[in-house]
Amino acid sequence: MTVKQPQPTDLDPIETASVDELQALQLSRLKWSLNHAYRHSALYAEKFDAAGIHPNDLTELEDLSQFPFTDKADLRKFYPFEAFATPMTDVVRVHASSGTTGKPTVVGYTQNDIDVWSTVMARSIRAAGGRADDLIHVSYGYGLFTGGLGAHYGAEKLGAAVIPMSGGQTEKQVQLINDFRPSIIMVTPTYCLNIADAFELAGLDPRKTSLQVGIFGAEPWTESMRDNIESRMGLEAVDIYGLSEVIGPGVAQECIETKDGLTIWEDHFYPEVIDPETGERLKEGERGELVLTSLTKEASPVIRYRTRDLTCLMPGSARTMRRMAKVTGRSDDMMIVRGVNVFPSQIEEQVLAIEALSPHYQIELSRAGSLDKLTINVELDPINAASNNPNDVASSLTHRVKTFIGVSADVVLHDEGGIPRSQGKAQRVIDNR
Ligand code: DLL
Repeated sequence: MTVKQPQPTDLDPIETASVDELQALQLSRLKWSLNHAYRHSALYAEKFDAAGIHPNDLTELEDLSQFPFTDKADLRKFYPFEAFATPMTDVVRVHASSGTTGKPTVVGYTQNDIDVWSTVMARSIRAAGGRADDLIHVSYGYGLFTGGLGAHYGAEKLGAAVIPMSGGQTEKQVQLINDFRPSIIMVTPTYCLNIADAFELAGLDPRKTSLQVGIFGAEPWTESMRDNIESRMGLEAVDIYGLSEVIGPGVAQECIETKDGLTIWEDHFYPEVIDPETGERLKEGERGELVLTSLTKEASPVIRYRTRDLTCLMPGSARTMRRMAKVTGRSDDMMIVRGVNVFPSQIEEQVLAIEALSPHYQIELSRAGSLDKLTINVELDPINAASNNPNDVASSLTHRVKTFIGVSADVVLHDEGGIPRSQGKAQRVIDNR
């Protein structure tokens, strides 16, 4: 496989600037962003006044830690457009988060915001190895979700050609990948697995497609899942991170030459990691909750937005900007099962360690009397399971989960197609307690 490595001349100058230059830019942009949010958004005026702090209190980057946090509930309070910091006449687009519970959170974009977003997305695709001569198949959903349009505008800005397929119509995805021969796919990792299944169902080998790179995000996926997808699809899988409240995809991207965590586009998004319990800022390398502050956003600025995503910050490697470790869970994804903290990603690692199992799984929580019960529903791998006794496979997973995670789990094996398939973000946990 010949994946294109970025040449220094391909990059935006800030990607290779010195740390001092980057921090000077961040400081001036941060001052602007705090002032802009305070003066123009009812949300931040209320928050800063309540905390007795003013944008002028910030003289260095460190001072940001004195400002109050923002969270989803704050944004919802100003639903739909009351937190916007620009008049509606300047807003050219809105997106909204999926909002599975309650009202969605709505974000607005000015034309400048769309330009910044396209720039960081173009940068992300380039960091993944994409260039103007690439053909990019976008299977992230188009619509209120930021995945499809974010990828689309970034790919166009890079000068690449886009196939705006969106999610769903899985057989059609197979046909177009086969006929149009794209070099890059942008899709959630779980939907990519479904596309791989559909290739096999059509009697085609998913390793033999034209795809060289997959840019996967919008949901947690483990290193074991990366290995699984890479070997199944015969491509390089890199991670892209973002959230609608902050802009959408393109907050951070893994560079193909290092694949060592995600470079945060820090000239636009200032990261902190905090202890989720105390709110204290943590040092580089310490795991906690990611907090993001926008430095250039006009319509929907975010100041110290608590993402709930768990990660740690690391120094820059392929770029000047700092990196974040792969997000393998959210603080609100954590299941407490008989007193043990369990993340779905830990279960995923154990499922993928067993060859006879497929990566299609779902976790069910229920109550047996006063005790929590954890059931792992998982499909057998149609090829590798043939030579195994299903009872041995199930007890091997139970054993691994007990040994490595410390909880007892029932395992229910399903045949191919027994677990509902996602066309975007997979629902991993069903909590019936
Ligand atoms: O998922 C934006 C996006 C689209 C990112 C396409 C990447 C690719 P939301 O729907 O607002 O936005 O969901 C954001 O998804 O807080 C994380 O919990 C999770 N998430 C996003 N990317 C990753 C990733 C989009 N690479 C929420 N790894 C975030 C793990 C991710 N979790």
